Amino acid sequence: MEISIKHGAPAKLKTACIIAAVHSGKNLGECATALDRPSRQALSRLVKRGDITGKVAESLIVPSAPGLMADRVLLIGAGKRSGITGAEYVKLIQKAAGAVIDAGLKNAVSTLTEVVVKGRGDDWKIQQQILAFGAATYRFDEFKTRPKVKSPRFSRLTLLVAAELEHAASAEARIGKCLVDGLQLTKDLANTPANHCTPQHLAGRAKEIGKRFKSVKVEVLNEAAMEKLGMGALLSVARGSEQPAKLITLQYTGAGDEEKPVVLIGKGVTFDSGGISIKAGPAMDEMKYDMSGAASVLGVVSTVAAAELPINVVGVIPASENLPDGKATKPGDIVTSMSGQTIEILNTDAEGRLVLCDALTYSARFEPDVVVDIATLTGACIVALGHLANGLMSNDDELADALLAAGDASGDRAWRLPLWDEYQRQIDSPFADMANVGGRPAGTITAACFLSRYARSYRWAHLDIAGTAWRSGQQKGATGRPVALLVQYLRERIAARA
Ligand code: BES
Ligand code: MN
Ligand code: ZN
Repeated sequence: MEISIKHGAPAKLKTACIIAAVHSGKNLGECATALDRPSRQALSRLVKRGDITGKVAESLIVPSAPGLMADRVLLIGAGKRSGITGAEYVKLIQKAAGAVIDAGLKNAVSTLTEVVVKGRGDDWKIQQQILAFGAATYRFDEFKTRPKVKSPRFSRLTLLVAAELEHAASAEARIGKCLVDGLQLTKDLANTPANHCTPQHLAGRAKEIGKRFKSVKVEVLNEAAMEKLGMGALLSVARGSEQPAKLITLQYTGAGDEEKPVVLIGKGVTFDSGGISIKAGPAMDEMKYDMSGAASVLGVVSTVAAAELPINVVGVIPASENLPDGKATKPGDIVTSMSGQTIEILNTDAEGRLVLCDALTYSARFEPDVVVDIATLTGACIVALGHLANGLMSNDDELADALLAAGDASGDRAWRLPLWDEYQRQIDSPFADMANVGGRPAGTITAACFLSRYARSYRWAHLDIAGTAWRSGQQKGATGRPVALLVQYLRERIAARA
């Protein structure tokens, strides 16, 4: 999807569809009014007749109107002219994007940046429109032999803005385009089934990013190299699998060698059967998404590299399968992590923290300013927060607040859970330095407690994305979360420094 920014008279724009707002009480918005005049009141007649009243997210496609260069007009209800909430705005642009894409149109012009949104600026509205159209356009049909849509898909979104906004809007649109592409990479990888998306495959995709961007250096460690580093926790997860584990790092340098990087660690369990502590059958297919954290790291690195953001980011991906086998790790086994701390593995299904802990220890070598790990770590997080909020835990209040703010600004929200010391007791082990599970109470927190023991030397946050990274049921598939949150966080760091 290409994105362009324009200003000028709406009636003169040649497009498959121009999208314009109608406010409550049957009031045409500014652009709709500008379209109404040359079309000899075609739009106001429809509105007077009550075909659309202006309630948030109502929609009406007007096939053609005289005097306009656009093939169609899509009228969208935009609520009170004085202003609507951010949630209402997102609802109406999603409706608009859905209507345009369902109608099979190839391009559209949106004038919805004119809608007043309480507490949100133009950049936000531009970003949200780009995200909504990007999401509505996304398809994953690589494994369908027929429907590979014949007719070209929606390919250009034009945002009409006031003349004085054009410059800033173009900069925002450029980053928006990179973000949509990054999100697509993340979703594609997460949707790819585990017989194709192996640790080796993730490494290959990372190397592609390294080839595409000079600014990104990629390194892949094999099991022998991990053995040398003493990554006994990570390797214990891979023991039951024929697929060798990989440790993938991507180093993006956009701000020179002096600046300390943000390290992003993504859980890359390409299939989680539970191992010897095997999972129940129903919905086990969804465990192909257990590398969504890794996919989001690849999406973020490719976004910032494409946008050439002035910041340093290191992506670290511990990648492995988790399968049962004669060689697989067994409940009760004790392993030694790279940090030297020993772990009693009471449940082989709590494997995420085992691959992450060695990646956390490894990350210290990048002398990070902060480290954020992203993982589909606990089913308990879905119980606690459902599918709306990413679970956030951190050893640093400032970092946690910045991530919460980035979540709010991007619409990819997070909610913080406590990491109080008292919870640590739940993972005590009589035989090793710690156990890898802490019982049912506060399962999301005790998983983070485990990780915190490997993140003592830097500022660190953990995002549990078990509930947010994909949707089950009818519209099953990867969501691309929390790529938007992380890119927003990185952008806010850059803005704060400038
Ligand atoms: N990948 C799962 C977490 C998960 C479960 C994500 C369901 C999304 C949906 C993780 O490896 C896991 O199995 N966690 C266990 C931990 C438990 C054994 C302490 C869980 O949540 O049940
Ligand atoms: Mn598991
Ligand atoms: Zn898992």
